[in-house]
Amino acid sequence: MKKVRKAIFPVAGLGTRFLPATKAVPKEMLPVVDKPLIQYAVDEARAAGIEQMIFVTGRGKSAIEDHFDIAYELEDTLSARDKSHLLETLEGSRFAPGSIAYVRQQEPLGLGHAVWCARDLVGDEPFAVLLADELLWNPGYPCLKQMVETHEEKGGNVIAVLEVPEEHTDRYGIVDPGARDGNVTEVRGFVEKPKLGTAPSRLAAVGRYIIQPAVFGLLAEGARGAGGEIQLTDALARLIGKQPFHAQTFQGVRHDCGDKAGFIQANIALALERPDLEPAIRAFLKTI
Ligand code: UTP
Repeated sequence: MKKVRKAIFPVAGLGTRFLPATKAVPKEMLPVVDKPLIQYAVDEARAAGIEQMIFVTGRGKSAIEDHFDIAYELEDTLSARDKSHLLETLEGSRFAPGSIAYVRQQEPLGLGHAVWCARDLVGDEPFAVLLADELLWNPGYPCLKQMVETHEEKGGNVIAVLEVPEEHTDRYGIVDPGARDGNVTEVRGFVEKPKLGTAPSRLAAVGRYIIQPAVFGLLAEGARGAGGEIQLTDALARLIGKQPFHAQTFQGVRHDCGDKAGFIQANIALALERPDLEPAIRAFLKTI
């Protein structure tokens, strides 16, 4: 079985829910504590053994490219001013030459279209997709690592899911479940944002995928789904029954950072895990 070596980070969306913050700054560069969202996703991919990072970018996203480049002047100044200890904080944004690639999605036609834009960089092998605005937090055993292990065992396609409250099922792509084995559930189908009371389960897709390259042929058809967009889930649904397809129930904490409340909660939760920040933040929270 082919190993998952490449990851796609679709970062070409407009980030409208965070305007005006995202007018000139990409949503994926918004920081949780002191690290941009995209860096959390890249760290997760690295920890899962991913060797090649592919970013699908669009207009106004050059800050992401700069973030993952060497900042020569900054590094030189830090060294000269005896602040070399700060160089460590830049370590996660360094890449071996050639292990990072960018492709441009000229128009935001949907997540499926963004993934399809990376087809020639991925080629004929399974790949991961990570949506950086979903911060899936388990630094000891990251989400994508959990999924890669399932892929090694079962092959095919693996998506990350979480059990959501019944009354929230209309906000997500929901899995029609087959047999369940611990945290791994067979996927028999997907329903995108089902009407309340009709969801086949409470297992909701949360922005991490391991996908077989056959999906590119389906995305190439360019079929428009919900919202007139080329939807990734529509193409994935067509792989069900043809290839193994499993849902991995994520062990960890999810922060939906595409949403303002989720983003603020993520900042508080992660700050409280930091010994240097915890006392001040906790004391402040008590006062309000
Ligand atoms: P979202 O719909 O959550 O992100 O897409 P958005 O469009 O940037 O944000 P809002 O809803 O307007 O606030 C999920 C992910 O897919 C990427 C986005 O960048 C985001 O990471 N995406 C979406 C693309 O790369 N291209 C698209 O055409 C659509």
